[in-house]
Amino acid sequence: MQTFSRAASLSALIALLSVPPQLRAESGAEAWLRYTRHDARTLQKYQNLPPNVVVLGDSQVLISARDELSRGLQSLLGKPLRTDASLSESAILLGTVASIQKTIPEFRPPEKMVVDGFSLTEIDVRGKTVLAIAALNDRGVMYGSFALLGKIARGESISHLNEAQQPYAPVRWVDQWDNLNGSIERGYAGRSIFFENGDVRTDLSRVSAYARLLASVGINGCTINNVNADPRLLDNDHLPQLVRIANAFRPWGIQLSISVNLSAPKTSGDLDSFDPLDPRVADWWRKKVEALYAAIPDFGGFAVKADSEGQLGPSIYGRTPVDAANVIARALQPHHGVVFYRAFVYNHHLDWRDPRNDRAKAAYDNFHPLDGQFEQNVIIQIKHGPIDFQAREPVSPLLSGLEKTNEAIELQVTQEYTGQQNHLCFLVPMWKEVLDFDLHANGDHSSVKDLAAGKTFHQPTGGFVAVVNVGLDENWLGHPLAMANLYGYARLAWNPDLSAQQIANEWTSLTFSRDPKVLQTISSMLLSSWHTYESYTGPLGMQTLTDILGSHYGPGIESSEENGWGQWHRADHDGVGMDRTVATGTGYVAQYPPLVALNYESPATTPDDLLLFFHHITYSYMLHSHKTVIQHIYDSHYEGAERAADYVKKWQSLQGGIDNDRYAATLARLEYQAGHAIVWRDAICEYFLRLTGIPDAKGRVGHHPNRTEAESMRLTGYQPVDVTPWENASGGKAIECASQQSCAAEFSFEGTSGKYELDVQYFDQNDGESKFRVFINGKLTDEWIASLLLPATKIGGDSSTRRRIHNISLHHDDKIRIEGIPDREEHAALDYIEINPQTQR
Ligand code: GCU
Repeated sequence: MQTFSRAASLSALIALLSVPPQLRAESGAEAWLRYTRHDARTLQKYQNLPPNVVVLGDSQVLISARDELSRGLQSLLGKPLRTDASLSESAILLGTVASIQKTIPEFRPPEKMVVDGFSLTEIDVRGKTVLAIAALNDRGVMYGSFALLGKIARGESISHLNEAQQPYAPVRWVDQWDNLNGSIERGYAGRSIFFENGDVRTDLSRVSAYARLLASVGINGCTINNVNADPRLLDNDHLPQLVRIANAFRPWGIQLSISVNLSAPKTSGDLDSFDPLDPRVADWWRKKVEALYAAIPDFGGFAVKADSEGQLGPSIYGRTPVDAANVIARALQPHHGVVFYRAFVYNHHLDWRDPRNDRAKAAYDNFHPLDGQFEQNVIIQIKHGPIDFQAREPVSPLLSGLEKTNEAIELQVTQEYTGQQNHLCFLVPMWKEVLDFDLHANGDHSSVKDLAAGKTFHQPTGGFVAVVNVGLDENWLGHPLAMANLYGYARLAWNPDLSAQQIANEWTSLTFSRDPKVLQTISSMLLSSWHTYESYTGPLGMQTLTDILGSHYGPGIESSEENGWGQWHRADHDGVGMDRTVATGTGYVAQYPPLVALNYESPATTPDDLLLFFHHITYSYMLHSHKTVIQHIYDSHYEGAERAADYVKKWQSLQGGIDNDRYAATLARLEYQAGHAIVWRDAICEYFLRLTGIPDAKGRVGHHPNRTEAESMRLTGYQPVDVTPWENASGGKAIECASQQSCAAEFSFEGTSGKYELDVQYFDQNDGESKFRVFINGKLTDEWIASLLLPATKIGGDSSTRRRIHNISLHHDDKIRIEGIPDREEHAALDYIEINPQTQR
């Protein structure tokens, strides 16, 4: 899905012409494994690196490690790496600790090595320099090889290497929400790399490439299909197809897992029931699992979403998640497979009129009472917050509510509620806050990362899962900067003690360049981007104020209110926020351990950025920041939109330091984001102005002196239409060209002579490609096609898009005319034109 293909802006095109030719065009397909050749000075650092490699073993994973070293070093250093059968001279030596000790008896591994951990050690063996990459298992050796390559790629010294790394947790998985028909639930980067037309794709080269990328950052498992699982994937027909995917994963140490539908014994089997306590059902799962392991001996296990959002589950037989998880777990046990049973179980038909109802309570209410009853190979997969991947949520209390059960924290790389890869939103700072949060389980210190990893309560397994949803887009996730989230997730799953800054720097230097300006600029953009996104989409813990009933993309403030989905923020004339306190609210706060609950129970001790998640507050309430709630809402949206605009300038300052294609593709998205941030800003600010009647102390909200509404222009063919909800279009109205081949809107410029930039706010749906032309005094000044693939088939907050025309000379009374030519279902709709003095570019 090339969302921004034909829409690359004029400025991006100009940039294309002026980038130095030595920067080769890049698509982003290589992600952080570009292995760009070093300059002569840096090459000197590696001149003593042995030119050959010895591999002690012949497993597929070890061969991958050797081939990767050879490919990487050739590319980075321009030197081939020779493979030797035995250690006869200085060499890089790959092997398990046991095999290395057979060759070099004096080799001592680091203490407390765990599976998948590795050491990189330079050893002098009778005058020969041996760089040993050792681990307990072959996969660890491969991780060590990637780590060595990473160091060299970042230009770090490798002399006298003596270091070891151990993963924080055994489970470091990714989930894909791919459907058998090739679409991806909440995927924003093209179609599935796994499936098409009901089957596994013939060409799995992208799957191999994905597995390599995942392995390079220590990911060891992947669930390939939608949690809303299609039972047909368990059919006999699909088994040989799954074998092909497992074959593509295996050389990279990635275990294959699939999401299963609990109703499968009935819907795709021949039973009349899927009751987990029915022995026939247990037998069905046992046989299914046996067949899977006969074909795929290293199969990982199953993910289960049940009794959630319309998925069938054990409740229809009066059974519990324990019954459901355990019947599958017992089938998997002899084969060492695991069940990821998702805690995302809630009632989406809640009565919103009942002030005691609270969706946030569901996971804890459902799973805490079952603690200790799950089989040892069940892992409860818990979303990091109690709702659903909002721009901000508190951590889920269930993370501290399971003391005798394995758990894994579920994060989301695909930016479902955080701009869908059209907005820059680097989530590592958010995940850091979550993982470092002290839940004080048992009255002691217990960070979320320790709870998830099973360290706090000494569980046998546990760790990290992230929903990723890469697609067939060449650069995997659509936005050229979005892969920082996948990289960052994996780095945190390996070592959650890394800082966000360190991760941003690593990713930038590997993905773009080590040039200090590029590094500093991109890192700082990444690091501030989550707060920026949060500040214009729903601050103070209101959650992302998006259209929760549809796209989850543009503004849709009331869509979360007064319905059964329970994502309420309960805004009314007097106040806003959900009262979740024990004293007067839903009682959710009591699910936290006492030390945490104490803070959240009172507005005075609740942090500002979660205030409205926990409390219903009047708009004049004074925050810790010494602003009122309402003024904070106004200010944060204006500041956020300004920061989004600033990203464009920051990015433009990198022109020439980044290859053409990725420069232009990123610029186009940042320009789009800057425009869409204003759509968000205006929708939320105007909504709260109308609801509260409290004006913005700074006089901005509701005043747009440089804006001319389309409905107030002289219209030829265009008709004014009301937009729903009203706040998603300026003045609540737009104009559309529904019944003509071409329409026009015209007005006279009323300002003084000067240089201006013109912002044309129009609506770009995905069911047509309208054309627009702008004329000034009859002269064609700009034209474009509305061809972005936004999640929108109607005029509104999802489709509202800005076209900025720079450097226009205007004189008083100049005639500005915009012509729209509709296409199919898209009616060349316009919202307004804003004319501002040209800013410095
Ligand atoms: C969200 C998302 C769904 C998804 C669900 C889940 O609600 O919008 O598409 O199926 O999460 O995690 O199961």
